[in-house]
Amino acid sequence: MTTRHFLSLMDLSPQELDRMLDRAIEIKGKQLRREVYEPFKNYVLGMIFEKSSTRTRVSFETGMVQLGGHAIFMSPRDTQFGRGEPLEDSARVMSKMVDGVMIRTYDQSNIELFAKYATVPVINALTDQFHPCQLLADLQTYREHRGSIQGKTVVWIGDGNNMCHSYINAAILADFNLHIACPEGFDPDPAIVQRAGDRITLFRDPKEAINGAHLVSTDVWASMGQEDEQKQREAAFSGYQVSPALMDLAASDALFMHCLPAHRGEEVSHDMLDDPRSVVFDQAGNRLHAQKALLEFLFLAAK
Ligand code: CP
Ligand code: NVA
Repeated sequence: MTTRHFLSLMDLSPQELDRMLDRAIEIKGKQLRREVYEPFKNYVLGMIFEKSSTRTRVSFETGMVQLGGHAIFMSPRDTQFGRGEPLEDSARVMSKMVDGVMIRTYDQSNIELFAKYATVPVINALTDQFHPCQLLADLQTYREHRGSIQGKTVVWIGDGNNMCHSYINAAILADFNLHIACPEGFDPDPAIVQRAGDRITLFRDPKEAINGAHLVSTDVWASMGQEDEQKQREAAFSGYQVSPALMDLAASDALFMHCLPAHRGEEVSHDMLDDPRSVVFDQAGNRLHAQKALLEFLFLAAK
């Protein structure tokens, strides 16, 4: 038995990612036709949330039920995670009971430590460094609307955060060009940028970065855990709002994505999410289907 983890997108090969996206589209079709597909009857996914979530919790929990299994929600407030039980111990205990563990936490090192001791697949459901599950949904959404993303230009506008880092990893695996426009002091981690080589171009001016782009993506200016920096960040990012007028500088068939939740009037104008180029609600809905394809991949690898 091989235990495969999904701690970042780089845990997949380009071919595995490509197949997973096609599979996500197939699984979505089954669900839309209300076909019953329950390969994982009696499987249980443990879900540890150290940060808030709507989409991630609902999509994993719904996905497990639809696949014939079950999911357990755990928060630090009412488990021993909040009382300092070592991750090494928790990983070994949970591995004796559940078939996979999904974790949303702060530092990437927490999930790496957990995975080191777990004998069941561990899934990164967002850390300060990465949000790989979101990228599965984003890439699925692009594929459904526009076909292959290979060779296209994607632009990331805003904070060089966990989502930006996952877009960098996606650029490597799915072979697209990524323009990144961040204010000074909010660039992505240079070590992650460096791995992607010449696929990445850094900009300061969002108007320059968006020029001709096929996909435009942004995120909140202050991520979970950075609430104290909200005011300072609003000032630093004030020229980085994505609006229909900015989108007009992108390619004529450009799509707009945002992982949500969005702050209208900050990183997006009040009308951006309702613009015809916005696919944010398809993107959010695809979390369900993309993660079912991920669960299938990980559970079948572990069988
Ligand atoms: N995009 C995303 O992960 O949303 P939640 O924080 O609601 O899970
Ligand atoms: N960058 C955001 C993403 C939320 C889904 C955060 O980490 O809060």
